[in-house]
Amino acid sequence: MEKFEAVWALGLMSGTSMDGIDAALVRTDGERIAEIGSVHMKAYAPAFRKKLKGLLGAATEPPGALAEISRELTELHAEAVQELLAASGFSARDIAVLGFHGQTVWHAPEKRKTLQIGDGELLAKRTGIDVVNDFRSADLAGGGEGAPLAPLYHLARAESLARPVAILNLGGVANVTWIGEGNALLAFDTGPGNALLDDWMAARTGETLDRDGRLARQGKIDAALLAELMQHPYFRQRPPKSLDRNAFAVDSLSGLAPADGAATLTAFTAASVALASERHFPSPVERWLVTGGGRHNRTLMAALRDRLKAEVVPVELVGWDGDALEGEAFAFLAVRALRGLALTLPTTTGVVRPTPGGVLYKAKKA
Ligand SMILES: Nc1ncnc2c1ncn2[C@@H]1O[C@H](COP(=O)(O)OP(=O)(O)O)[C@@H](O)[C@H]1O
Ligand SMILES: [Mg+2]
Repeated sequence: MEKFEAVWALGLMSGTSMDGIDAALVRTDGERIAEIGSVHMKAYAPAFRKKLKGLLGAATEPPGALAEISRELTELHAEAVQELLAASGFSARDIAVLGFHGQTVWHAPEKRKTLQIGDGELLAKRTGIDVVNDFRSADLAGGGEGAPLAPLYHLARAESLARPVAILNLGGVANVTWIGEGNALLAFDTGPGNALLDDWMAARTGETLDRDGRLARQGKIDAALLAELMQHPYFRQRPPKSLDRNAFAVDSLSGLAPADGAATLTAFTAASVALASERHFPSPVERWLVTGGGRHNRTLMAALRDRLKAEVVPVELVGWDGDALEGEAFAFLAVRALRGLALTLPTTTGVVRPTPGGVLYKAKKA
C-alpha cells in the first residue's frame, strides 16, 4: 500500500452553541498526530447567531433563508481560514485539506436525517484549498447516529494516556468518549451541555452565557424539577445515541428566578453526565478529561466533581487545548476522508460497520 505522508489539514467546527467557528491546524496522516498547529476562534456577531438559532428545526432542504444563511456561514468560514493562515504564517498551498463541518440546524437520527448547512464547493473556491464536508450522511445511511464524530480523534490523541479514561466535551450538547483497554471505545451524547443554560441566560438576563458559572453559583437547585428533567426517555436509551440541540423542553423552569434556573440547568448537565457513566460505561473511570467551552464554567466543573466522584480536570492537564479540540478533530477526519479511512465505528455511532465518509470538493489550482 502506498505510504501516506502526514500533511497539514485545517479543521473548522461550528458547534451547537453557535458561538462561533473554531479553526485549528493539525499535521497528520489520518492515523497518528504528527503536530498540532495554531488555532483561531472567530466569534459570530450576535445578529448572525440569532439568524442561526432561527433556523433550528428548519426544513431539511435548504430553500430561501436557509440557502442564504448557508452562504453567509461559508463566507465567514473562508474568513476564519484566512485569519488563521495569516496569524500562523501559512499560505493556502501549505494546507492539504479543510475539514468543514458546517452548522447543524437539524439532527433527527431516528429519521436517519441530519442537516448541516455550509457550502463545500464555495469554500474551496474562496480559499483555493480542497474541502471535505458532509461528514455525517454516510454514517446515517449506514445505520449510525451520525454523531458524535470526534471519538476517533480523541483516541488518536489519547495514545499515551492510562485507561480507562473518559473525554467529556461540554459543547452545546455534551458528549463523552470512553476509552478502555486495547483501545476499546464507546461514545455518545450524554445529554445537555451549555445550550440550555445559554438560552436561559439570553432569555432571562440578556447575557449570552453564565460566565464562569457565576449566576448558577448564587442560585438554588430545584430538586423536584431536576428529577422531572431526568425522567426524559433519552437517559434510558442505550448507547450509541445522539441528541438534537433542542431535544429537552425546559418550560417547566419558567417560574424560577434567573439564578435558580441557571443552577438547576447546570445541575441537569452534571446529573446527566453522572447517570450516563453509571448506566452505560463498560467500566468506571478514575479520570475525566473535560474539553469544550463548558469547562470554563466553574460551577459546572464543581458539580461534575461532586457527582462523578472521580478526578475531573480540563484537558489542558494533559497538554491539549480544550477550545480547539473539536476543530482539530475535523482536520484529522478530513485527512481520514481523503484516505478513505473510517470516520465512525459501531461503538461510536452505532453504524453497522466502520464507515468512511465526507464529500470532497477540489479547489481549482491556479
Ligand atoms: N467563561 C465561560 N464560562 C461559562 N461558560 C462558558 C465560558 N466560555 C464558554 N462557555 C460556554 O461554552 C460554550 C461554547 O462551547 P463550545 O465548546 O464552543 O461548544 P460548541 O462546540 O457547541 O460550539 C458557550 O456557548 C458557553 O456556554
Ligand atoms: Mg463553539
